[in-house]
Amino acid sequence: MKLLLVFIMVHTIFIPCFSFDIPTLLPAFPLTLDYYKSTCPTVFDVIKKEMECIVKEDPRNAAILIRLHFHDCFVQGCDGSVLLDETETLKGEKKASPNINSLKGYEIIDRLKNIIESECPGVVSCADLLTISARDATILVGGPYWDVLVGRNDSKSASYAHATTNLPTPDESLLSIVAKFYSQGLSVEDMVALIGAHTVGMAQCRNFRSRIYGDFQVTSALNPLSVTYVASLRKICPANSGEGDSNVAAMDNVTPNLFDNSFYHTLLRGEGLLNSDQAMYTSVFGIQTRKIVSKYAENPVAFFEQFSKSMVKMGNILNPSGGEVRRNCRFVNT
Ligand code: HEM
Ligand SMILES: *[C@@H]1O[C@H](CO)[C@@H](O)[C@H](O)[C@H]1NC(C)=O
Repeated sequence: MKLLLVFIMVHTIFIPCFSFDIPTLLPAFPLTLDYYKSTCPTVFDVIKKEMECIVKEDPRNAAILIRLHFHDCFVQGCDGSVLLDETETLKGEKKASPNINSLKGYEIIDRLKNIIESECPGVVSCADLLTISARDATILVGGPYWDVLVGRNDSKSASYAHATTNLPTPDESLLSIVAKFYSQGLSVEDMVALIGAHTVGMAQCRNFRSRIYGDFQVTSALNPLSVTYVASLRKICPANSGEGDSNVAAMDNVTPNLFDNSFYHTLLRGEGLLNSDQAMYTSVFGIQTRKIVSKYAENPVAFFEQFSKSMVKMGNILNPSGGEVRRNCRFVNT
């Protein structure tokens, strides 16, 4: 009788906290490797070649494209919704708080789309362009390769509301961030690996001010060099909000343009730039995440393997409501 009671309590009290909508996999999964085999056989080669130029022009472009794909997939699935411009009848996601004055790369996708449209008009979706270019970007800065499944539709709508609520923010609690990944069907292991993308790219002062004037000195106290590091960060990012808000610093200050596991070493040193990054190692709620961070710091191959798997998993979050292949990534077809 007692056992039964515990059982009921577990189900009535704890389970509801974790009853998120996990996107149900369709019986016959629609994405394939050879979706464009007959309609646009050169798509992977053409994008790869252009991506080489794009990353050579500025290695930060790799980081920018990886992040753009992530922000697409967490809102209605990977459906190119993030690319839609605001019109009279469509609100768009670009002005939502996690994206505004921060998310970049829309012009790069336009550039890829133009080239692909001249090669195979009306065939390749913008959502697939985001997925393929994020993979190529990763390789071009030294990260792992994985096969990209294709055949995504572009959405005919966007969601400002979900862009605001689904995307994690740097000052959010670890548990709340775990919940956001979980509701997308992504585990804690997926989450820790995917955030490893912060091994490339930059963050703005407004997103790390609370960290460098907060517990940075406490978490990094074991490392003597961190005194000079935090001083240099504070020079870039003054304490008063409004001053230098958009100044940037690398999230991995050792190898900012290289996709490696040194981001996890910054966390081990207590030098993570974002509160949300450091929390994976330091938070009292982060027993599980701390173990995974340590594993990836020790074993770069384990990180690469999981990052590849988790990027495929994230890329498989689909928008079930059908769609189209947009002619222009910024607008729904008329
Ligand atoms: C806890 C979850 C996450 C949070 C809170 C977070 C937050 C942030 C923030 C605040 C920035 C800096 C933006 C700016 O200052 O303009 C950033 C940049 C970046 N994020 Fe994340 N992120 C998370 C997860 C991810 C994931 C899952 C990926 C990709 C798989 C990713 C990829 C990137 C990249 C590559 C950049 C650098 C972009 C650039 O240089 O412009 N992030 N993220
Ligand atoms: C794309 O949309 C069409 C109908 O508009 C649908 O038949 C197809 O299954 C969709 N594909 C994916 C990957 O959702």
